[in-house]
Amino acid sequence: MTVAENLPRSVTVRVPAKINLHLAVGRRRPDGFHPLVTLYQAISLYDDVTVTDNGSWGVYVNDSGETAGVPRDATNIAVRAGRLLADHHGIEAAVDISLLKGIPVAGGMAGGSADAAGTLVALDRLWDLQTSDEDLLELAAQLGSDVPFALLGGTALGTGRGERVEPIEDRRSWWWLVLPSEKGLSTPEVYCEFDRIHPEAPTELDESVELRERLGSEDPVDLGRFLRNDLQEAALTLRPDLVETFQRVREAGDAAAMLSGSGPTVIVPVSVQDRAVELRAALLVAGIPVVHIATGPVAGAHVVEY
Ligand code: C5P
Repeated sequence: MTVAENLPRSVTVRVPAKINLHLAVGRRRPDGFHPLVTLYQAISLYDDVTVTDNGSWGVYVNDSGETAGVPRDATNIAVRAGRLLADHHGIEAAVDISLLKGIPVAGGMAGGSADAAGTLVALDRLWDLQTSDEDLLELAAQLGSDVPFALLGGTALGTGRGERVEPIEDRRSWWWLVLPSEKGLSTPEVYCEFDRIHPEAPTELDESVELRERLGSEDPVDLGRFLRNDLQEAALTLRPDLVETFQRVREAGDAAAMLSGSGPTVIVPVSVQDRAVELRAALLVAGIPVVHIATGPVAGAHVVEY
């Protein structure tokens, strides 16, 4: 198959960051991954992924101190996503992929997964493939545990290794303060530390039944009551400096902080916007260098320009 001549030459897709409101982790499986029961939420920090026709695969990333570690070659997960979609449809074509990164890099907010999801959606449109949702989710799962959720957005229950996603009705929105860390954390290293701390973690997680029941019975859902992150202790062991960040949040605003996914980004749930603005100011005064305000849930990967 060849790509038609008169199709758009460039497409931009916007993809949100994810947080895990609830992250229950079980014992490492024989395939190396951990069983999860998680409540994902997409929040309003975004990467923009632009794909442009070209004869070969190229990756361009906005330059900032933060993006220095993002691969600029074919090892970037966005290129792997593009190649996977091309192979799936038997297409021989290649594109330039430009990443404008607003999601903290290596921050536990699935920025790389967002870029993979964005590339799938952008190329599906650029090449007019009309891939079914089912196939897109299946390809996404091959790329990474968090990639299917980046397609979906909103709030969702994640099971398996996180790749099986089920939308949850959004019954209220939240404000989130997002405190990125200057240095990233490696997700595999955090999981290894989790194994060390919890050698007896359960092989099967039955929280999904309980969580589903609780979600179904609350009206409106008070997501604050679901906050839990089993990776937090492991991440704090690897990065004891984060304890100070938690302390500053407690002191500055009497607020509850939690780690986003495998960290090191720290997030603080807030019910109303005024409180978010006030707390952000207090945290900056307390010496936290960067505090973003975000809201969630928001939509998953969507085309913004073509
Ligand atoms: O799926 P993804 O490629 O994003 O995962 C990155 C790494 O995180 C995996 O190689 C694995 O070490 C760890 N991981 C895990 N269990 C999961 C998800 C990720 O151990 N459920």
